[in-house]
Amino acid sequence: MRLLRFLRKSVAVGKDIDYYSKFSPSPLSMKQFLDFGSENACEKTSFAFLRQELPVRLANIMKEINLLPDNLLRTSSVSLVQSWYMQSFQDILKFKDKNSGFTHSTCNGFLIRFTDAVIKIRNRHNDVIPTMAQGVVEYKETYGTDPVVSQNVQYFLDRFYMSRISIRMLLNQHTLLFGGKVNPAHPKQIGSIDPHCHVTEVIKDAYENARNLCDRYYMNSPDLILEEFNAKEPGSPVTVVYVPSHLYHMVFELFKNAMRATMELCGDTMECPPIQAQVALGSEDLTVKVSDRGGGVPMRKIDRLFTYTYSTAPRPSIDGSSGAPLAGYGYGLPISRLYARYFQGDLKLYSLEGYGTDAVIYIRALSTESIERLPVYNKSAWKHYKTIHEADDWCVPSKEPKDMTTFRIKRIN
Ligand SMILES: Nc1ncnc2c1ncn2[C@@H]1O[C@H](COP(=O)(O)OP(=O)(O)O)[C@@H](O)[C@H]1O
Ligand SMILES: [Mg+2]
Repeated sequence: MRLLRFLRKSVAVGKDIDYYSKFSPSPLSMKQFLDFGSENACEKTSFAFLRQELPVRLANIMKEINLLPDNLLRTSSVSLVQSWYMQSFQDILKFKDKNSGFTHSTCNGFLIRFTDAVIKIRNRHNDVIPTMAQGVVEYKETYGTDPVVSQNVQYFLDRFYMSRISIRMLLNQHTLLFGGKVNPAHPKQIGSIDPHCHVTEVIKDAYENARNLCDRYYMNSPDLILEEFNAKEPGSPVTVVYVPSHLYHMVFELFKNAMRATMELCGDTMECPPIQAQVALGSEDLTVKVSDRGGGVPMRKIDRLFTYTYSTAPRPSIDGSSGAPLAGYGYGLPISRLYARYFQGDLKLYSLEGYGTDAVIYIRALSTESIERLPVYNKSAWKHYKTIHEADDWCVPSKEPKDMTTFRIKRIN
């Protein structure tokens, strides 16, 4: 009897997922995020938007999870992640059709319950990244790596983590704006957005924290040379409408990488070349460049650095007994690039092998151009997982050079 009820419920949820996955997510612009938090911010409007948008974003990515190889879906870690998504999806659907018959007195209690549900969902999903990563590691250890599967997993993880960044952004904005408490540390922020994010301050903060980690591992750390160029308002500090925690995340990862490369190269010599960070504001782009003289990376390997789990550092112990690691999970660059792309920016690495690396973050200078970049579950996405990858349309050079002598002899004759 219980099994029957469970099955009926699963079928019903499956139908709801199908229904919501047919909608495309609605990307918000920075301006729209700010409007939710403006003086006449209305919790009811935010609620009405989230009640539709959260199930859509959740259902879109839940459909895509199902396209992963069966053996990956069967790992305990991926099953756990799926169960969190299922639960959160159902939690939000409980608020469906609940505004009709809303009297003023019931409304408040209702909105409070919604905010509580949002907080619960956010906490439930705290460990999604390491848990999903664990699933992929387990799968690769058991079934080995196959280039097609690896390519699909990389494609999936980029979209899955991007979806997660966007869902957390929505959850955070709602709870920070309507959770009842003013954030004492950042009274001027609209939720997690700072309309006047002071770029060099975030950079200095990230540098100091990375430097502390570096000192702990290497007993030494490179200095920072920081410059800024404001072409819009020469002489003024560079500011942008942005999420400071996202910017912090990106530059913190870049500093840790630059420091590790520098320290590994200069070894025990007390002199290590400084890291240079440059900030430039133009009419379209806000650019942050972090340059090190840590020896660089050959061009052949640059793309590989953005592969999840690719790291040249030893894997840190999972129990965390030795404190936060400086490197080793291989998630620093790919996740940072997602943060940059989330608001239509990008993150690129340029390297001069034998010398050093420039890592460049591009951010849209205009808040009207900063619009969420979201994955959508549709035919093209589906095709990505299902297409049989055909042979390359460029010649593959053979490993052994051809014996040209026979060729030459023929011509002479
Ligand atoms: N500035 C850099 N100079 C040289 N190598 C780098 C630099 N940044 C990243 N790398 C290489 O890219 C790999 C992946 O970086 P990342 O994604 O941050 O993961 P992790 O730092 O955990 O290894 C590093 O292990 C390192 O080999
Ligand atoms: Mg790193």
